[in-house]
Amino acid sequence: MKKFIALLAIVGASTAVHAQNQPAPTPQGPTAAAAAAGSGPAPAASPRAADKLVAMCIGCHNIPGYQSSFPEVHKVPMIAGQSAKYIVASLQQYKKGERKHPTMRGIAASLSDQEMNDIAAYYEQLGKAHAKEVPATAEKAADDVQQLLTRGNCIACHGANFNQPIDPSYPKIAGQHPDYLFVALKAYQQQNNLHVGRNNAIMAAQVKQFSPAELKKMASYIGNLPGQLSTPAQSRFR
Ligand code: HEC
Ligand code: HEC
Repeated sequence: MKKFIALLAIVGASTAVHAQNQPAPTPQGPTAAAAAAGSGPAPAASPRAADKLVAMCIGCHNIPGYQSSFPEVHKVPMIAGQSAKYIVASLQQYKKGERKHPTMRGIAASLSDQEMNDIAAYYEQLGKAHAKEVPATAEKAADDVQQLLTRGNCIACHGANFNQPIDPSYPKIAGQHPDYLFVALKAYQQQNNLHVGRNNAIMAAQVKQFSPAELKKMASYIGNLPGQLSTPAQSRFR
């Protein structure tokens, strides 16, 4: 079984980017037809419309433990359970080049606004189907880490449990993979590289006061908190 999953991961990696035109792996034709019949002219976000589109994403985002090697080896972020608003906001940033990760830029550039809305609705709903209860306030960190979090005032925006941001376009970070959180935090410190970095005024202001070792400590604490993000192995949620 392990071997099979590993193989899937390899296949997923090599086909993910051009899998766009292949049929979605969930053979649910009748559902799609029903959705089309019931959806008048209004192009509201539709998680069902995303079934085909997410074939492009699952090779990386729906394989538990799947790793990326750029710009260093780390786990691909969990996106199921993020709010749709944050998913759209981040996809738009990749598309505009404000986030420079080359693979995600290429993928986001291929998506229309409507497609982003549909995919985002899909992943928000997929996360809900797997969500666990999370305490309202996060367990206290070790003193040295607590000092860093206080200095950065992280909970003011990300919430007392790091899972309830003050705005739905801000990310949930509790329980996200620690190695990804570390890479993301470092990215906000990098503005002048063509392939690595994120231009975000809010987070750039937060991270500039910290050393890499300090960012790593915060990433490790936050990533080990209980959160509502998940990596459902299947693309099916109903
Ligand atoms: C080849 C692997 C791969 C594929 C395919 C892929 N992603 Fe990603 N995705 C990544 C990696 C790696 C990152 C982290 C990039 C970074 O460091 O900014 C990422 C980041 C993201 C983020 C930001 C997450 C966050 O917490 O900020 C979103 C949203 C996202 N991807 C959505 C998608 C969607 C939607 C698709 C399909 C249309 C997709 N991805 C396809 C590897 C992939
Ligand atoms: C003033 C509000 C604010 C504060 C304070 C703040 N953040 Fe953020 N954080 C944001 C926003 C907004 C984003 C999304 C930025 C983007 O779109 O790239 C973000 C993104 C992040 C991300 C990237 C998540 C992902 O999925 O890619 C991490 C990690 C993070 N913040 C950690 C922290 C930590 C640790 C602190 C404290 C040192 C902190 N933040 C303080 C608003 C804030």
